[in-house]
Amino acid sequence: MEGAVQNDIPGIDADCGGGMACATCHVYVKEDWFNKIPKKEDGEDDMLDMAFEPKTNSRLSCQIIVSDDIDGLEVNIPSKQA
Ligand code: FES
Repeated sequence: MEGAVQNDIPGIDADCGGGMACATCHVYVKEDWFNKIPKKEDGEDDMLDMAFEPKTNSRLSCQIIVSDDIDGLEVNIPSKQA
């Protein structure tokens, strides 16, 4: 989320600034990456329920901590945010 916001990537609104309180940083993680990123913390699924068209590969991008382990991570952005 921080990378998207700092680089003016459209489609990541991040209204709460990463506080897991808005779901406007919703992304779809490409299937082959989904199990390679850190698991969801408590509360993320509840917030994703409020996201626009959540799917099984949905994540809040503010909860994905960037590291060398996920270099090359691919995500898609929903057609709109909640
Ligand atoms: S920025 Fe608000 S939930 Fe991620």
